[in-house]
Amino acid sequence: MTLAADRLVVALDTDTLEAAETLVKKLAGTVGWFKVGKELFTLSGPEGVRRIRAAGARKIFLDLKYHDIPTTVRRAVKAAVLVGADMVNVHALGGTGMMTEAVKGRDEAVAQGANRCLLVAVTTLTSMTQQELMELGIDATPRMLAVHLARMAARCGLDGAVSSPQEAADIKGICGDRFVTVTPGVRPAWAAKNDQARVMTPGEALAKGCDYLVVGRPITASKDPAAAAQKILAEMASPASATQK
Ligand code: C5P
Repeated sequence: MTLAADRLVVALDTDTLEAAETLVKKLAGTVGWFKVGKELFTLSGPEGVRRIRAAGARKIFLDLKYHDIPTTVRRAVKAAVLVGADMVNVHALGGTGMMTEAVKGRDEAVAQGANRCLLVAVTTLTSMTQQELMELGIDATPRMLAVHLARMAARCGLDGAVSSPQEAADIKGICGDRFVTVTPGVRPAWAAKNDQARVMTPGEALAKGCDYLVVGRPITASKDPAAAAQKILAEMASPASATQK
């Protein structure tokens, strides 16, 4: 497994567990991380996570974006880590009390023998516009809010933040290099953008300081997912060769 493979996260946005397992079997020799989101987890639950692991997934990001009262989030994070996730996330908008409890939940699971799991905070959803933030009563640009929320997450002891690639460099600058950045919205120059509006190529995203690149459809909708993943890994290994059209 190359260093780039350990930083590429394939989003398993499938509507059956069998389809996700098929993808994992095709990709497990190439890619280090697989993301199980709300759709797949709602359909298949902890058994789905176990089967994704059994299909060959080395690392699993359980992308359930918890946002609730602090005690509920602590217990949910603990459960997610005990289920076997290697990365879990919460919404930073849940506040410092909630994020502090989330860290406790992760640590409780580790104390019970679970693997050390990365705990990251979702900052501004990349779908949010300035207008929508104003409707929520938030007087900040999406970028300012993302950096502010990442700083809060770092102070609460979380390991990193999910943001658009555009904010990753600012987040790294403020929260430090060890604070990891996880970024969807990554598109190789040769792939369709689909519904992602603000995209960067894998090479550009790495240059901005992104640690984990989340890529779905350019790989999962490809006729040859392993070849598409290899192509992205090659771009990650030599970023200078890739620029967005
Ligand atoms: O297919 P695509 O590469 O667009 O998939 C991106 C993945 O990242 C999806 O699972 C999507 O839900 C997730 N995501 C995102 N933007 C965010 C947060 C998560 O695209 N802000």
